[in-house]
Amino acid sequence: MAALLEVSDLRVHFHSASPERWAVDGVSFSMEEGEILGLVGESGSGKTVTAMSVSGLLPRDQAQVDGSITLGGRELLQCSEAELRSIQGSDLSVIFQEPMTSLNPVLRIGPQVEESLRVHQKLSREERRRRALEAMAQADLPDPEALCRKYPHELSGGMLQRVMIAAAIVSRPRLLLADEPTTALDVTIQAQILELLRRLNRENHMGILFISHNLNVVRKLCARVAVMQGGRIVEAGPVEEIFRSPRHAYTKRLIAAIPSRERKLT
Ligand SMILES: Nc1ncnc2c1ncn2[C@@H]1O[C@H](COP(=O)(O)OP(=O)(O)O)[C@@H](O)[C@H]1O
Ligand SMILES: [Mg+2]
Repeated sequence: MAALLEVSDLRVHFHSASPERWAVDGVSFSMEEGEILGLVGESGSGKTVTAMSVSGLLPRDQAQVDGSITLGGRELLQCSEAELRSIQGSDLSVIFQEPMTSLNPVLRIGPQVEESLRVHQKLSREERRRRALEAMAQADLPDPEALCRKYPHELSGGMLQRVMIAAAIVSRPRLLLADEPTTALDVTIQAQILELLRRLNRENHMGILFISHNLNVVRKLCARVAVMQGGRIVEAGPVEEIFRSPRHAYTKRLIAAIPSRERKLT
């Protein structure tokens, strides 16, 4: 299997922060094609900044980014903003914790799911629409035709997250960056979204970088996990191994924070 993503010695410094404070401080990891990798750590440990660096969403005028990030062998840190925009929405997609902040409240659902196709691919209107309906069906959205005409505020949080997922997979990316995609959802909906991600990974052979502050959620989805603290990866390996014998005190704390009745896998 070829490497899908390789991050080497990534360092991110915000110009607004004190000179010695690196939000991401020498992070390295890699993902194979079709792999689900978990990235776990407490709030402020650098997970989102890592994901934003990979997705090219970090505003270049606000931060200095060093190191190397290659996607399918291509160095992203050397790409122009136009090249990054074209990679984002074709090879790579992102979903976030708060779907409402990523969706435009005054636009209907349909055009928003089609968005990356309109921007990046030369498809006819009919083909775009067909692909959008297909992605919505794959994301388990009921009655996609009717849903296309609705506005975001008419949908529940769980439905909105599925719409975001449909919009993310419509371009058939090789890599999905999922930053705390279930954190704002209740436990039942969270389980459904995890199941959906698992299925999309399998059906589309789509790699997923799954970010969460909750090691137990990561355990349900990922075979391998990297643990972040203070902008660094302090421990990485197979999830079950790390659960059985965490080496780092910080990882032990993350495990201890999980209520004991949830620690057993169901
Ligand atoms: N736009 C920004 N400007 C300055 N500092 C930032 C910015 N975004 C994040 N940071 C800092 O970077 C560090 C990592 O943040 P983040 O990646 O959001 O953490 P996590 O996602 O793990 O909760 C934090 O110390 C945070 O304060
Ligand atoms: Mg975050």
